[in-house]
Amino acid sequence: MNNTLNIALPKGRLGEGVYDIFESLGYGCEGIKDKNNRKLIFENEELQIKYFWVKPTDVSVYVEHGAADIGVVGRDILLEYEPDIYELFDMGMGKCRMCVAAKNDFYDDRGRTLRVATKFPNIARTYYASKSREIEIIKLNGSIELAPILNLSDVIVDIVETGKTLYENGLKPYEDIVDISARFIANKASYKFKNENIEAILEKLRELKK
Ligand code: PRP
Repeated sequence: MNNTLNIALPKGRLGEGVYDIFESLGYGCEGIKDKNNRKLIFENEELQIKYFWVKPTDVSVYVEHGAADIGVVGRDILLEYEPDIYELFDMGMGKCRMCVAAKNDFYDDRGRTLRVATKFPNIARTYYASKSREIEIIKLNGSIELAPILNLSDVIVDIVETGKTLYENGLKPYEDIVDISARFIANKASYKFKNENIEAILEKLRELKK
């Protein structure tokens, strides 16, 4: 079996932070942070590791299907898509929370179906089902904060980090749903067959967090 460890990293600030940690643990890969090239795959043959930059929402797809052995992904994605993977470690980075937010003067009329705009329909459905609240989901792909302002929805279910986006758009957090942070995940077969390599990384991550 090919012993190279394939690692899916989320493109963007979180992924770069994750890579910096991996590099500090001895898993560096030359050229990976060079902004001038558009390469998506980087290999360090000596260390037998290969990194891929993928869209944050796709990390768990690569890992679930075994195209990547391990990866780092936000808990929001794991809760939304429920991939069949092992969640092995809380990286303690990319901390934010999933919230219900609404306009400052929002009043919840429980006699009416609540219109919920979100990128996370599964999380929203599960949350409101637990409260026995009837809702209609309006699925959007970004700029969710616009929905209540334009009366497309009553509330939004979205990620809040600093709260700045809500504040600047006249919205406020109304209820907290769940805390989010970046998680280290592994493909189930890879965890079995490349256990030593994966455990070695995990051990170093645990050591670093102490
Ligand atoms: C996320 C989220 C909020 C914003 C929250 O958006 O959907 O809009 O970040 O951050 P804040 O609390 O620090 O202001 P993202 O950057 O992922 O863009 P998008 O939802 O429009 O795709």
